[in-house]
Amino acid sequence: MTVIPTERAAQVIAWRRWLHQHPELSFHEHRTAQYVEDVLGTFPNVSVTRPTPTSVLATLTGTAGPGRTVLLRADMDALPIQEDTGLDFASQTPGVMHACGHDGHTAMLLGAVQELSAHPDTVHGEVRFIFQHAEELFPGGARELVDAGLMDGVDAAVGTHLMSPVPAGVIVLRDGPLLASPDSFELTIHGKGGHAAFPHTTIDPVVIAAQVILAFQTVISRQRDPVKAGVLSVTTLHGGMAHNVIPGEVTLGGSVRTFDPELRADMPRRMEQVVKGITDAYGATYTLVYHTGYDAVNNDPGLTQVLREVAAEALPDVSLHPGEPLMGGEDFSAYMTRVPGSFILIGAGGPDAAPHHHPKFDIDERALEVGTRMYVAAAQRLTQPE
Ligand code: NI
Repeated sequence: MTVIPTERAAQVIAWRRWLHQHPELSFHEHRTAQYVEDVLGTFPNVSVTRPTPTSVLATLTGTAGPGRTVLLRADMDALPIQEDTGLDFASQTPGVMHACGHDGHTAMLLGAVQELSAHPDTVHGEVRFIFQHAEELFPGGARELVDAGLMDGVDAAVGTHLMSPVPAGVIVLRDGPLLASPDSFELTIHGKGGHAAFPHTTIDPVVIAAQVILAFQTVISRQRDPVKAGVLSVTTLHGGMAHNVIPGEVTLGGSVRTFDPELRADMPRRMEQVVKGITDAYGATYTLVYHTGYDAVNNDPGLTQVLREVAAEALPDVSLHPGEPLMGGEDFSAYMTRVPGSFILIGAGGPDAAPHHHPKFDIDERALEVGTRMYVAAAQRLTQPE
């Protein structure tokens, strides 16, 4: 059983609070990366590099003998949100906040490096601890790190995310689909503006947009197997400036999410078919721009089963749940395109906790010790030779 000494657990909380006070936006994590690098510099037996300007990699070679190479990942970026928690360690940067728990992820992974670097004889092979930048902003930091060669020689990848709706003391280990592919689109409908009193002299893009939005709701619900989950949400709609003017164009945009690669690949074509049909019928034209986001997070069942055994043995006080697939997205999927990976959700809240990306978001800090122990136990087990 892995036991993190109490003073080390308190240290993880202290790191988290410093990071919480000093949040930085995606691709701008300069101070954060320097802080992480400085803390890592106080540990023995690890080498520290910067694969990109705002990411930090610590590498530990175990002294227990040859073995496998495992990647442990934490993300470090914050969000453009004005914090409203009233915490005494609230963000000191106006308009920027750690509202997704990435401060906790970074602190937990620092805790894991501290623990393992003090006991390299508990590790075979090699552990790569990646403190990743820019998870929140497409194209994401993970892809950049993969391109920089981070995954060369790696056998398995493990990431964690603190989860606000799940109570502390619970770990979610799920086989297969966990998080969706978050794609997005922007659509402009070009009509012909004019006087609101004379609609017959215009091509009214407002009415056309209304029909497109409703027809979009049938693309997944009427054209696809209902057992295969997907969602198309129109989230922005802009057009017009005056009550007596029909505008010349309307723009709208939204999000398309699914776990199913086939549905994902098919969506731009199906949406365009709807838009083309409706705009053609009214003599309007359109511009549809479709953005492909992160791939879905699909946990490797074999690796996840090993992690389940690891958790049951090393964290007997924690309860394991299979969880449910979520339509959220994560760029951890970029690592999974290269090696078997598993993304673990660590309970850090409860049913009454504020949701992620909310100005009042906070975590139950008892979760930090759970996450740290999970990282440590996973590294010790997954680096063992096969
Ligand atoms: Ni997050």
